[in-house]
Order: sequence, then structure tokens, then C-alpha cells
Amino acid sequence: MIWLDGKFQIGNVHCPDKSISHRALILASISKEPSKIFNVSLCKDVLATVDCLQKLGATIVFQGSTAFVTPISKPNNKVVLDCQNSGTTARLLCGLVCGLGVEATFVGDQTLCKRPMDRVQKPLEQMGAKFKQVEGALFATKPCKLVGTHVVAEVKSAQVKSAVLLAGLFAEGKTTYTEQVATRNHTENMLVSFGCNVVVDGLSTTVQKGQPVCANSTVPNDFSSVAFPLVLAVLSGKSATFSNVCTNPLRTGLLQILQNCGLNYTLCNTKIVCGEQVADLHVFPSKFGSIVATESQVVSAIDEIPLLAVVAIATKGTHKFFGVRELQFKECNRIQAIVEMAKKCNCQCLFDGDNLTIVSQGNLPTSPHFCCHNDHRMAMCGVVLANLCGGGSVDGQPFDVSFPNFLQCLGIFPKNLALVGSDISQSKSPILMRNLAKHAGICITHTLVELPKHATDQQLMEVYNSFDGLNVTMPFKERYAQLLGANCPAVNTIGRGVVPQTTDGYGMEQAIASCGVNLANLPIWVVGAGGAAKTALCALQKHNCKVQVLNRTQSHVDSLAKQFHLQQVENPVGVLTFVPECQFEQQIQLPPSVEFVLVSAYKGQSGIKKQAEERHLTVVEGLQMLYHQGAKSFALWTGTPIQNNYLSFQHDFNNF
Ligand code: S3P
Repeated sequence: MIWLDGKFQIGNVHCPDKSISHRALILASISKEPSKIFNVSLCKDVLATVDCLQKLGATIVFQGSTAFVTPISKPNNKVVLDCQNSGTTARLLCGLVCGLGVEATFVGDQTLCKRPMDRVQKPLEQMGAKFKQVEGALFATKPCKLVGTHVVAEVKSAQVKSAVLLAGLFAEGKTTYTEQVATRNHTENMLVSFGCNVVVDGLSTTVQKGQPVCANSTVPNDFSSVAFPLVLAVLSGKSATFSNVCTNPLRTGLLQILQNCGLNYTLCNTKIVCGEQVADLHVFPSKFGSIVATESQVVSAIDEIPLLAVVAIATKGTHKFFGVRELQFKECNRIQAIVEMAKKCNCQCLFDGDNLTIVSQGNLPTSPHFCCHNDHRMAMCGVVLANLCGGGSVDGQPFDVSFPNFLQCLGIFPKNLALVGSDISQSKSPILMRNLAKHAGICITHTLVELPKHATDQQLMEVYNSFDGLNVTMPFKERYAQLLGANCPAVNTIGRGVVPQTTDGYGMEQAIASCGVNLANLPIWVVGAGGAAKTALCALQKHNCKVQVLNRTQSHVDSLAKQFHLQQVENPVGVLTFVPECQFEQQIQLPPSVEFVLVSAYKGQSGIKKQAEERHLTVVEGLQMLYHQGAKSFALWTGTPIQNNYLSFQHDFNNF
């Protein structure tokens, strides 16, 4: 989760082109001689390609963003290639591996496994490629020999075209690929730079068998990344300059589409670098009208349609996008994700199977929360929109898939917070931290770090070192206390520059105090004998309370009695329960002396809570404790005052 506070400052945007980086690395790996590639993107997708090429036998060494590539001499056989989240890696390398004629099993993450691969397998089969079924794999190749073929595109895809052209370098004779609409032509441009025999004739490209010769390449900046700060700038009425951007017209459809509805921009210092048009791009404050994106414009803005949808959402009008069905097969179903995002912003949407209409009144919501469906571009759209709304959140931050320094380029430096524990997927911490960040007016990220119950010390320390501030939950409170040399037995708050400590006791005390109860000298029953009950006993001791512990297991009560001054309490004024829903708790009868109860569990049925409600006693909710302990942790990490605003959290909690 990331909370944006609506403040940003676009600085120097450096973001090497992902598409061109993949292609340069692939061609360099099958060239005659070693070569250098300057300004390679170090995003996760490209690193997945690097890893696969290394598995196949290339040597790729980085010095900063310069890659030194020694080509594959004899390709390794029977390799497993992990393409992670990258469709380009899977599809382009499918063509390459079929050309090399080796056996390889391609795997990927959950999202990639859902994306269609038959679109690349079918045309390669036409050329003689062979595939086999492997459980859980994207696909697996068998040894084969390719022959030059004329392939006619069935889908509008540069990845499929590129796979066929790469395979064509190894196929006997000539391979021609004819497409329906012109898609990005980086593979063709780079084949020319690498001295291959390529002829482009309208929508047909022909390549002849032959090995690329070495070519050192320089990768320009990625328009698909630049587009995010660009749109944020112009929609906020600002100017911005982006240098050294690849302005290949088959990639910059967004500029044409937005120019037609009001974008004011100029290109200067235009030059050709490694076969690609590169320029400096200046954008100026612009007032937009309705967007109309034609089918061919959509193809050259295929990755920017979600961002154009952000412009549509922020701009009053009826906006139309034609021929966008392919977006259903991207890193997530982007049509569905766009519709969801637009509806959160009070827009109407219509998708007829290929064309999308968004009707916007231009009224942006306050503090929206967007789901990115684990898709890097949807996440970046969410960040842009949240900033335009003056503040808002996105449920994930997978920016490093394509644009690792995205936030820095927007001048956004969040505090990186986390909760570490086991079995925490249902945690309310993200909603809590979002609420606290919103009220403190600062930008944060919040991550749920799930570790196995028996995580090693090294794993725990790695997590500790990866964040600015962490809350710790079961079963690691004692482990971190030991590892970090805390002067208390269990900690829930750790982080850079923060003394490891627990704020759980404070959370309880504050929750009780804010319900108007003064704990001093009160007789109390504590139900439970676990970690939370122990923390409560410490806090009650400070207030001089007379305490009796009730627990199903007498030996646990006896061992607590040794540590704490426990006694028989006949007429408790308060009953604090720290056990989950269970028979033991259900059977406890509240004596007539009880005036308040505290119920730490906020899920499940509590017999104590039920009786207290029937008798109209004060009930301190577990959620209140959660809020106050989190508020203190947050203050410690961020150096802001401790917030005491439970009602706003309760509202967010109920409405999230
Ligand atoms: C890409 C082509 C496009 C694009 C993807 C990168 C490429 O995919 O969406 O992000 O580098 O060739 P399709 O070929 O599926 O349209």
C-alpha cells in the first residue's frame, strides 16, 4: 500500500527504454562478437531477460547501467527460463530458443501464467518449432529445425512479430511477417543496427537467415515511463522537460491522441540513435477536451491507454478509445482495472468488447483508494490519480517491474513502513497506517511481510534492514527483542533510529483512558495468559491495579503469579479479555461490580462483550487498542506527534 499526500516535484526523469533494452540484450547475445550496451534499463522485466540469456549461455556483466555482453557460443540445453512478470521476455525468447533449437522450459509468476502464449507458439509452429506440455510451465520447447515461412498476424502484437523475426534469423531462407496494423518496430530497427538482412515493405517485414554482427547500442529513455510524470505535470497545470526520450512514432501515440484534444508540447534536439528517433520533449500546461483514440493510435499507445484513461477521468467529457480489446491480456485485465478505477472516480464506463467509452464530470473524489491488481502500470496510474485528487492510496507498488525510480522522479520519498509476522494477510495495519499518514500529511508505503513461523535470524534481520519502520506481530515479538538487544522481553515497534520497544501497553492504556476510565488502583480481572495479557499486566502494575488472572490452564496462572503481584479479586471494576472466541470466555459471568470491559479480539463472538452490551457497560474495543498502539509506533518512526483520532480510523475501517 502506498499513501500519496498530493505533493510532488518532477525532477530529472531517467528511465531507459524497457522494450529496447530487451532487444539489445537478445541480439548482443547471439552476435558474432562481444558488445557493450549503454543505459540499459535495470527494471525487473529486463533483469528477467538477462537471467534467461545467462541460463542459455551468454555472459552479461553490468557496470552501472552498462552491460558487457559475451554472446552464447554453444547454447545450453534443457534449461528452465524464469520470465517472472515479463511477457516480452517470454515471447521474444520463445522465438530465440526455437531458433537455437534447444529444449527449454519457460516459467513465470502467477500473472504471466494467466497470459496467452499460444499467440507466439502457433506462428513458430508454422516455421517448424515444436512444443511439449509441461505441468505448471508457460510452455516448453523441443529440439527443432526452422524453415523460412510467411506468417500473417492474427493478433496486433509487437512481441509476436519480434518472436517470428528472431526465429527467422535461424530459419532456412526468408521469413516474412505481415501485420494488421503497424506495431512498435524496435526489433526491425535493431536488426538493421546489428547488420542483419531486413526489408520492411508496408506492413510486411522480411528477414533472412544470418548471424547479427556486433553493434554497441545506447538505449534512450522510455516514453512509456516518461508518460506518467508527463501526464501528472500537464494535468496539474505545470510544464516539464524530459530529455533523451525515444520518440518513435509507433510508441508515442499518447502525444498524438492528447495533442488532438489540447496537449501543448514540442520536441527538440531530435536525432537518430541506434536506428531510433530520440528527442527532448517539453510539455506545457494544457486544457483538455474529450479524447478520441483511433484504432491505429491505440496500437502506438498500447501501454499508455490506462494513463489516457486517467486523463479521461480527470477531464469533463465523453472519451472514446477504439480497438482496445488487447488490453484484456496485459499484466492484468486492464479494461476491467480501468473501469474499476473510473467508477471509483464517479465516471461511467462502457466496454463493448473492443471499444471503451468513459464519461466523466471531471469531479475527482477525495482520498480514494485504488487497486493495482499487481500491475505496474495500473499502480503508476493510481499514483498519478491519487496525487491529482490531493491525496489517496494504491494497494501495491510494483513500480520496479518497469520503472524502479518512479517515485524519486516525482520527488516523492515515502517513509517505508511494514508489518512483519506470520499469517498476517488479513491484518488491518494497512488501513490504520493509511489513516495515520493521511492525518499526518506525509507519504508512506506499507508492506505486509509474511515470514514462515521458523524464520531464521538472517531473514528477520534482512526484513529489519529493508524498512524505515516496522511493527512486529506474533510469533516474532520476542525474537526481535533478543536480536535487537531490547530492554524488554517483547517488542512491537522497531526501525531505523527507533529504540526497539512495545507500544501495546500504551495502546491499551490510551484506549481505556479515551473511554473515560481512570485505571489507578482499580480491581481488574484479566482473561488469558499469552503475550498480550502479559503486556496488559505490566501496564496494570504501573497503575497499582489489583489483578486476578482467569485462564483455562491453572499452571499458566501460577507462572504469571510468580512474575506479577496477582491476587484474588472478588469485585472487579474492569474485565480485560485477551483470548479469541472460545468456550472458556463464553462461560465467564460478569459480576455486578463491573463497570467496563476491554475486548481485544475484533473478530468473533465474545461472551464478555455480549453481557457488557446488555448491561450498557463501557466497552473498550480491540480496534481502539490497535489504533493507539499504531499511532504511537507511527509517531516514533516519523517524528510526528502522536495522533488521538480514533473516530476517523473507525470510519475508514468501516468504509474501506
Ligand atoms: C512490447 C509489446 C507490447 C507491449 C509490451 C511490450 C514489446 O505487447 O504491450 O509492454 O516490447 O514488444 P504486445 O506485443 O502484446 O502488444
